[in-house]
Amino acid sequence: TWTAANIAESLIADIKAQVGDDGLAICGLSGGVDSAVAAALVQRAIGDRLTCVFVDHGLLRAGEREQVQTDFVAATGARLVTVEAEETFLGHLAGVSDPETKRKIIGREFIRSFEGAVSEVLGDKAATGQTIDFLVQGTLYPDVVESGGGSGTANIKSHHNVGGLPEDLEFSLVEPLRLLFKDEVRAVGRELGLPEEIVNRQPFPGPGLAIRIVGEVTADRLSLLRKADLIAREELTAAGLDGQIWQCPVVLLADVRSVGVQGDGRTYGHPIVLRPVSSEDAMTADWTRVPYETLEIISTRITNEVPDVNRVVLDVTSKPPGTIEWE
Ligand code: XMP
Repeated sequence: TWTAANIAESLIADIKAQVGDDGLAICGLSGGVDSAVAAALVQRAIGDRLTCVFVDHGLLRAGEREQVQTDFVAATGARLVTVEAEETFLGHLAGVSDPETKRKIIGREFIRSFEGAVSEVLGDKAATGQTIDFLVQGTLYPDVVESGGGSGTANIKSHHNVGGLPEDLEFSLVEPLRLLFKDEVRAVGRELGLPEEIVNRQPFPGPGLAIRIVGEVTADRLSLLRKADLIAREELTAAGLDGQIWQCPVVLLADVRSVGVQGDGRTYGHPIVLRPVSSEDAMTADWTRVPYETLEIISTRITNEVPDVNRVVLDVTSKPPGTIEWE
């Protein structure tokens, strides 16, 4: 019978068989559920022979870095190397507004940072004559059967694809989730004791908040958007809507200003867009009918608590014609 415990046990046995008694593996963590569960399974199977690499590109939401560095490590005991790459990423993104250019830069820098970390880990191992032969990936069944699709799909592929690793290195892929659907991955993650914040995380794009700032990405804008995003997440969760919402991008229209009145004066600030959607697979989506009371709380809190934002708007477009993300 299918239970999370059975499936975890059998996946761990498969990993042991694949990696053998002295194989070494490496895994990139994104902050999302798939890579976290894949890494947790491999950790159970081979312990410290797995090294996890987390590239902090500075484009994650509030709390997500801590979830990886503190909570994931506490829950799994995994060995983690963090690459502090925020300055590098922001430097390369300076002056860039075009969405696809942002994606390309982030994809390129991500691979570069990951490669750097792998070379370092390799360097340490080389001293003892060891090589790393296995690369762990959180590929799910739908990714395996997917035959391609829209641009979102292509981008998912290009971003997560670490095929651009050093050419002289040949990794065998370890993909313990390749026969599982998302719900099953979550169940296995819970079974392994991963924190709910990771297990329940809604889909979040690899390029992160960079594609939720319409306009140039700067540290100030990121900090503002992080505050607004956290408020929206807190209130949607408090209203019990997480089960209905597939994901809710919160978007900063950094290139748009509108007139407002706040306190005693006129303001000329930026709008925040709420984009709650309901979906089965992100290929199509409908805008979620969030109750007015919840929208009111979110709007009031964002305009009160987030500097430079004087307006909150709701995106009521289905997909198609709109995509889920604004960029
Ligand atoms: P769209 O905006 O195309 O998004 O309707 C569909 C799903 O894909 C996610 N998405 C991305 N994920 N890299 C990713 O890893 C990307 O460049 C990217 N663009 C969109 C989006 O959050 C949604 O879940």
